[in-house]
Amino acid sequence: MVISMSKKMPFLLRFLVGFALVGLVSSAKFVELFQPSWAQDHFIYEGDLLKLKLDNYSGAGFLSKSKFMFGKVSMQIKLVEGDSAGTVTAFYMSSDGPNHNEFDFEFLGNTTGEPYLVQTNLYVNGSGNREQRLNLWFDPTKDFHTYSILWNQRQVVFLVDETPIRVHSNMENKGLPFPKDQPMGVYSSIWNADDWATQGGRVKTDWSHAPFVASYRNFEINACECSVTVTAADNAKNCSSSAEKKFWWDEPTVGELNVHQSHQLLWVRANHMIYDYCTDTARFPVTPVECVHHHH
Ligand SMILES: *[C@@H]1O[C@H](CO)[C@@H](O)[C@H](O)[C@H]1NC(C)=O
Repeated sequence: MVISMSKKMPFLLRFLVGFALVGLVSSAKFVELFQPSWAQDHFIYEGDLLKLKLDNYSGAGFLSKSKFMFGKVSMQIKLVEGDSAGTVTAFYMSSDGPNHNEFDFEFLGNTTGEPYLVQTNLYVNGSGNREQRLNLWFDPTKDFHTYSILWNQRQVVFLVDETPIRVHSNMENKGLPFPKDQPMGVYSSIWNADDWATQGGRVKTDWSHAPFVASYRNFEINACECSVTVTAADNAKNCSSSAEKKFWWDEPTVGELNVHQSHQLLWVRANHMIYDYCTDTARFPVTPVECVHHHH
């Protein structure tokens, strides 16, 4: 199986808003948390609903106004209805620079009636190649569903309607780097990826079915907001619990899955997983170390 790398549009504009204090942010409103990063004319605002449009002129994307460390980021998304072949809608967190970290949800479209795939990936210190692919236990084009990324110093968890679909655990004790030292922005975009997205790139985008529309609502960022005026190390310190301050994401109960969540993850993997880089021996003749130690 050939997995193509994600191709995100470069973000032309980045306006950073500085905050004197590191704070917790939680809001449901798009405009408070995010701004368009490209193709503003492909945004449609309908009350609390935001729609991003892809046509043969352009896709569209947005990014958070601030960067964050640790916490939970969620949004409700309704994916492109009908023919979505060739399109990719993404929701991800990413830091900047050549050694960036990134946590990705990528929704790979399909022809009418065929299932969307959810690809997740994780970059640590600039290197990715950790794709997993799932189908879902519902049709993600019919209704809004909540997609979340939970991040703390112990684990990164991808959740769909609060069901964990992937866990990447901190294995620094095995000598593996873990993403916990770089502030990350929150991003989403829709773009044409018909060179790889659908059935390995065999099905192309049918532009006669454009525009392709992804809808969003209920944005939530419950995370530690980073200041742009201090170093990453200071942000990491400010966003970690200490004697003076306690953050919920450092609680032992969110440091690992509980028994119920572990069962949910097993169920997802048994019933919905269609690709896991950990078991792709053609691609990785030597099993990646993190996979050897993963018990999920
Ligand atoms: C699209 O549908 C085909 C046929 O059901 C399936 O094999 C494939 O995994 C689906 N998703 C993508 C992204 O190709």
